[in-house]
Amino acid sequence: METYIDKSRNAIAAFNFDDFILLPGFVKASPKDIPIATRFSKSVNINIPLVASPMDTVTETNMAIALAKKGGIGVIHRNCTMEEEVSMVKAVKESFYSLEGYADALLDEEKRLVVAAAVSPYDIERAMQLAKYADALLIDVAHFHNPKIIDGTRKIIKETGKDVVIGSFGTKEAVVDCVTKLDGAAGLRVGIGCGSICTTTDVTRAGAPTLFAVAQAGDALQEMGSDIPIIADGGIRSAGDISLGMAFGASSAMLGFGLAGCKESPGDITTVGGKQYKMHRGMGSKAARAKRAALDRYASVGGRDLEEGVEMLIPYKGSVDEVVDKLISGIRASIGYAGAADINEMKRIARVARVNTKASVILNKAAERNAILQ
Ligand code: XMP
Repeated sequence: METYIDKSRNAIAAFNFDDFILLPGFVKASPKDIPIATRFSKSVNINIPLVASPMDTVTETNMAIALAKKGGIGVIHRNCTMEEEVSMVKAVKESFYSLEGYADALLDEEKRLVVAAAVSPYDIERAMQLAKYADALLIDVAHFHNPKIIDGTRKIIKETGKDVVIGSFGTKEAVVDCVTKLDGAAGLRVGIGCGSICTTTDVTRAGAPTLFAVAQAGDALQEMGSDIPIIADGGIRSAGDISLGMAFGASSAMLGFGLAGCKESPGDITTVGGKQYKMHRGMGSKAARAKRAALDRYASVGGRDLEEGVEMLIPYKGSVDEVVDKLISGIRASIGYAGAADINEMKRIARVARVNTKASVILNKAAERNAILQ
């Protein structure tokens, strides 16, 4: 056995967005000409690299419609009854879509907006109902590398025949093991414990910073010769973070905080001191867990009696349209600066440099929370 001192010496360095900067490269195209179409999962293409997180303060019908009209995809959350989730997915598929005005809209073969839905690995009944309408399913658990979760997911992949995105992942070993055991996994959600409202890492000291997790998953897939798309998830604050994710192998970015607080996010506007806010909460927060426990008979399977998220007020951001437009211009500019022609090239040729940051991930999060609440 290695000594404990060797364990400390041999420890791999974890890193996140604040630790790197994209190095400017030889410019190939002007930002407006850079295509940003990518893949959400093996067979679900998206026109912009943005995914709305399955959280009950982020993605319900209105968010999924608004984002799909812009070319991205929403994953409807599961913190509700099966009937409610199915009806939200149905409402997206049945929503009126006008060809004028939304040239980039993400449409299925029948010209309906594309949408995904979150499901527990233990809820085959819900998965079957959702599969009737959703274009893809996402197994929504904090840490996927678990034999019971793998078994449940195998059944869901087999029975639904849908693209099933699995996650979350933090390490190369977990990705290799799960992708090997689950023939047919269609996408990987990566990053553990670094979301804006996460307290998993504070409480348990376990987690994998998002950018590090992307690199780990990217290396795992490369080693396996697999082209499963990676979704970077947790703590993404800016277009630059999304582009850094691509430089480390991600195909798209999942946003919670980034899309919470929009007109189309669930919940009402609260006014505090003349300023407008909306509530954003972790799906492992006390309030979100209480709702799930009351509704979902699967909530206790493998569940822990531990709060892993918090609630926060975030400034009202206006429409998804404006938020997404800003992100898209930023992503195009980043790719242009890095000297890449598109997202795939970004993964291959973008160079990064390490920057010195004193603040740890946790300190950054605490400071951000305080700044917003002040
Ligand atoms: P952002 O920073 O975009 O992160 O808001 C969203 C992601 O955070 C994860 N998530 C949680 N993680 N406790 C956690 O540790 C929670 O209560 C929680 N709720 C959400 C999830 O991966 C989401 O996409």
